[in-house]
Amino acid sequence: MITTTEKELNLVELNLKGKDFLTLADFSEAEILGLLENAKKIKEALRKGIAFQPLQGKNLGMIFEKSSTRTRVSFETGMLQLGGHALFLSSNDLQIGRGEPISDTAQVLSEYLDGIMIRTFEHEKVEELAKYASIPVINGLTDMFHPCQVLADLLTIQECKGKVKGLKMAYIGDGNNMAHSLMIGAAKVGMDISISSPNGYKPNEEVVKRAEGFAKESGSTIVITENPVEAVTDADIIYTDVWASMGQEEESQARIQAFAANYQVNEELAKHAKDDYIFLHCLPAHRGEEVAAEIIDGSHSVIFQEAGNRMHAQKALLVEVLK
Ligand code: CP
Ligand code: NVA
Repeated sequence: MITTTEKELNLVELNLKGKDFLTLADFSEAEILGLLENAKKIKEALRKGIAFQPLQGKNLGMIFEKSSTRTRVSFETGMLQLGGHALFLSSNDLQIGRGEPISDTAQVLSEYLDGIMIRTFEHEKVEELAKYASIPVINGLTDMFHPCQVLADLLTIQECKGKVKGLKMAYIGDGNNMAHSLMIGAAKVGMDISISSPNGYKPNEEVVKRAEGFAKESGSTIVITENPVEAVTDADIIYTDVWASMGQEEESQARIQAFAANYQVNEELAKHAKDDYIFLHCLPAHRGEEVAAEIIDGSHSVIFQEAGNRMHAQKALLVEVLK
């Protein structure tokens, strides 16, 4: 089998060794764009059947306190492709599930592993893990943020549109972890973003303020509106996510009441976007709720390319932080 190296692939040097990936707020525009550039090169090598294995002997622990299809499989496969190894650690089986402190867990796992990916509820838990671990910690989704998803989303947008700067994204739906991370990611790379959520389900105000600071630096805009037509008008990208996230199952009925009348992405709404808009969704999706089947299964949808890019974007990240 033909193999290649970072040098041969001409990867952008980013000096992120040992760095945690908790939110995109901690990364510069150049670092985010560099990761996208490297992801493209690593993806291309894989497409050509060229092995790229800079992480031989490296082990990533993957702690899951919530379900996952994409995150688990893309991290595990990505690590294997890079020559390393990934361990699936369900919180049901770990001692943290029985109350062992996060700080102890962090220090113990640092003795065995080279990195930890964690999916959990409170963002503070991930911050605590990162504080006590001596190895990099990657946020695989919290109630507040989902930065790995946004890295893949930006890669997909760049592949489809040839750029990220200067575009307009419309996010329709719950002001949740996806809305927060998309807002930060867009603001960092100079993409305008309009978020439309019903009253009571708007994004966290502190996150909005923080993202507005980044938008000021990059020269982009953030609009928060209850009017989905205003958000979608002239958008290059339409994005939506579930109305009830993991952990909010009991609120499902109340949320359907709040969102159903105005916040479904369907043909009627999408006609206000640019003719060549693309549709993104982090998945899993509920057809007939946040998105009509005609949109998610229609010609503007690039959801499977987007899901595939989870692995390519994360491989670029893993190479940087674990090497
Ligand atoms: N988008 C995403 O994170 O999917 P999973 O919940 O399947 O990992
Ligand atoms: N907002 C969703 C995203 C799933 C990838 C959730 O947190 O469940």
